[in-house]
Formats: sequence, structure tokens, C-alpha cells
Amino acid sequence: MIIAVDGPSASGKGSVSRRIAAQLGLPYLDTGLLYRAVARDMLDQGLPLDDEDAAVRAAKSLDLDGLDDPRLRERRMGEAASRVAASPAVREALLELQRDFAHRPGGAVLDGRDIGTVVCPGADVKLYITASAEERAHRRYLELRDRGEHVDEDEIYQDILKRDHRDQERSAAPLRKADDAHLLDTTNLDIEQAFKAALGLINA
Ligand code: CDP
Repeated sequence: MIIAVDGPSASGKGSVSRRIAAQLGLPYLDTGLLYRAVARDMLDQGLPLDDEDAAVRAAKSLDLDGLDDPRLRERRMGEAASRVAASPAVREALLELQRDFAHRPGGAVLDGRDIGTVVCPGADVKLYITASAEERAHRRYLELRDRGEHVDEDEIYQDILKRDHRDQERSAAPLRKADDAHLLDTTNLDIEQAFKAALGLINA
């Protein structure tokens, strides 16, 4: 069973997907980490983020085992990831890796921006998880603060708006709900409630 979860920044899709995967005993891939890892490799080598050839090389040499690097969660990596993700060539270079993961025997849960629309259009269940921009900014603020980053909530709100704009307006695989995805708005739900609502939609 392939479960595709999409939605904007900090909508709760990661927490929900991780719990769904654990509940169903399926492997889970947070595809945002792939874009973050490409950005990290570029920054580590001192390469400009708009060097598309270098970004494609970084994408093609990605190793799933390196995705537990805590640096990938930093705010600047999210920002840099959003830039490299605008490149159609980088997106293309990451496609096979994502599809191979999805087609593991038994299935998988993948979350991102274009899983239900591009990576796994034939997924068995598609969820589109969203929440208001204010609520998402608040969650991201708490998450970064708990990780020890010094952040200002209003700046994070501005980041979220910029990220939404970039995700929705890019020409390659813009963020949108697949026609056959279930919509789940988590603005007024805590993690437990969002998880239960998602499980209900999957089992429906
Ligand atoms: O939650 P946040 O947007 O900060 O981070 P993420 O989900 O880890 O994704 C980082 C960046 O990668 C996002 O800004 C997206 O633009 C991009 N991304 C994408 O384009 N396609 C995906 N399947 C996953 C992430």
C-alpha cells in the first residue's frame, strides 16, 4: 500500500506521516529531507545554490542513510532547499530514488509537495494536509525554538508566506492538492487528533 501525503510547510504532515507509517508498519520517507540534503551538500562545498549542474550531481549521489543529519532541520537548510527544489532538473534527478522507495514490497508512506501529483500519481491513498499560515508559523516557531535556534515568530511567519509562494508558483511540480486526495485541515487539531483523522481517512 502506497500512501502519499502532501501539503505546505509545517502543516503537520511530517508528524502525521511518521505516526501513520509506524501504525501500519510501513517504511516512511520525508522527501523534504532529500531537497534539504542536496542544499546541505551544495553549501558544504561552497557552491552557489543556483549551480544547477552541481545540484543535479548532488541529487544523483544522495544516500538515504545520511538523512538523519540534525543539520538538515536547520532553518537555513529549509530556505536553501526551497531554492534547489525550484529546479526541474533537480526534481527529475530525485524522482527515481523516491519511486524506488515507494515501490518497496509492502508499500510505503511518503510525504512532500508533489507525491500524489508527480511521484506516485497511482498511490492507494492520498492525503493533502494543511493548516492556516498563522498556525503553521506558530508550530515552526516552537519546533525551531525547542531545537535551540534563536527565532522571531513574525520572521518565521514571513518565511512561511515566502515558502508557500515559492511552492505554489514554481513551474516544476507546483504544490497543489491532487484531485483524488483527501483534504485534512489541522488548524484546530493537535497531533493526536490529526493522526486519528488521517487514519480514519485511510481506513475509510
Ligand atoms: O516544512 P518545510 O517546508 O520547512 O520543509 P520540507 O518539507 O523539509 O521541504 C523543504 C523544501 O523542499 C520546501 O520548501 C519545498 O519547496 C521543497 N520540497 C519539494 O519541493 N518537494 C518535495 N516533495 C518536498 C520538499
